[in-house]
Amino acid sequence: QSNKKYFFDEPAFDLHDGGYVPLIVNNAPEMPLNIPPILKADRESKNDIYYTVTAKSGKSQILPGEKTQAWGYNANFLGKTIIFHRGQKNHITLKNDLPELTTFHWHGADVSGPYVDGGCHAPVYPGEIKHINFTLNQPAATLWLHAHPCPSTAEQVWQGLATMVIVQDEHESQLSIPRNYGVDDIPIILQDRHFHKDNQFDYRADYDPDGVAGPTAVINGTVNPYFDVTTQKIRLRFLNGANRREWRLHFSDDLPFDQIAGDCSLLPKPIKLTGLMLSCAERAEVIIDFSQYHEGDEVTLYTDQVPLLKFRIHNFAKDTTKIPDHLINLKKPSVEPSLPIRHVVMQGMDESVAIDDKKFAMERIDAEQIVGEYQYWDVTNSNEKPGMVHPFHIHGTRFLVLTRNGKDPYPNENGFKDTIGVNPGETVRILVKFDLPGIYMYHCHILEHEDGGMMAQIEIVDPKKPHQKYQLMDMNTL
Ligand code: C2O
Ligand code: CU
Repeated sequence: QSNKKYFFDEPAFDLHDGGYVPLIVNNAPEMPLNIPPILKADRESKNDIYYTVTAKSGKSQILPGEKTQAWGYNANFLGKTIIFHRGQKNHITLKNDLPELTTFHWHGADVSGPYVDGGCHAPVYPGEIKHINFTLNQPAATLWLHAHPCPSTAEQVWQGLATMVIVQDEHESQLSIPRNYGVDDIPIILQDRHFHKDNQFDYRADYDPDGVAGPTAVINGTVNPYFDVTTQKIRLRFLNGANRREWRLHFSDDLPFDQIAGDCSLLPKPIKLTGLMLSCAERAEVIIDFSQYHEGDEVTLYTDQVPLLKFRIHNFAKDTTKIPDHLINLKKPSVEPSLPIRHVVMQGMDESVAIDDKKFAMERIDAEQIVGEYQYWDVTNSNEKPGMVHPFHIHGTRFLVLTRNGKDPYPNENGFKDTIGVNPGETVRILVKFDLPGIYMYHCHILEHEDGGMMAQIEIVDPKKPHQKYQLMDMNTL
């Protein structure tokens, strides 16, 4: 059975929006998919691990001819994959070797804002070194690290400041699912770029207030990638790392696959799909079973009708393990009935984007919630159809999706998430709790909408403790 509906409201596809840039297959030769190396720890003991993450610039051979000048984390473009273990104390040295201020935002990590979390209030200036510590107490998941200075998040991510972060825990490591990094457990960072003269990026030339897009798909930094399959099953960790592009993924032969995880956790049970839609910043872990294929066959991953990645099938040993039909226990906690519902409206397009009639201001706190308390948030996209989907993201928490316009969310949204695509004219109800006091941003993850002001911030307070004063940046810092 073919499900090209991607569990998604078809008329809302961003193809209809003015700034849309269609993908075109580049004529560069096929290249092996770049598998970002795992970042080596500086040192490690049972309870502690030390990493140095350096934002730097460098040149990469992305296309034949001139190398492309780009930015990355411990790499010339994008970055190395960072692995955290639940419960272990992470000590991270942040280094900025770039010519401008940046921040290091741990997207999806349950860490305190506004400093450790690396949003706009946590600048690391050129040449500066900072140290942060945090311990993750959250389930195994695929997260990411990206730059988040206000208002140049979009440009810095476009330059390459984005990399995958994997959280591992004891529960996930017991399940019979692929986890051999680079062999059968593969990061897939989905992005698009426009290569200008001499293969260079030119963000300003490509600028569109509704999001910058380019005609060339770039997967883990590779154009026209292929991957050599040597195992029957493969786990792909999809991350939509694009500034504005949505991906509507499917395979040749309508090959079905199982989604096992969303943004911030495994799903309660695997969901069989033949199509998967990812809005900006969303993640999905899927398992593909190539048992029907033989050495020499090829399976292609597409977005719409555009090929993204070819899987070249080699000989593999027969694998009879079954994906467990139960992956994680998630209970829906109850909400104090007297608690009002928080309404958040993402509105406007182009330069007029805002949240609740206000553009983002770094010094202004827009909302307050009590630490440890569950609250319903009703998040609305007030655009009319056909308009853009706004991917709504909250820092420092993971939430459950309860309803879309009063109806059940899509079956593959039943895990913890930190980003949810809200369709035009839709209200999505989510259940939100913060475990750590602090200040957290929430915004549309179309990065140009975020930089354009479709962003706000909430203070999480602990009524049992004296009120804490945070040092906030202002809008004139850059
Ligand atoms: Cu992925 Cu506020 O960010
Ligand atoms: Cu938006």
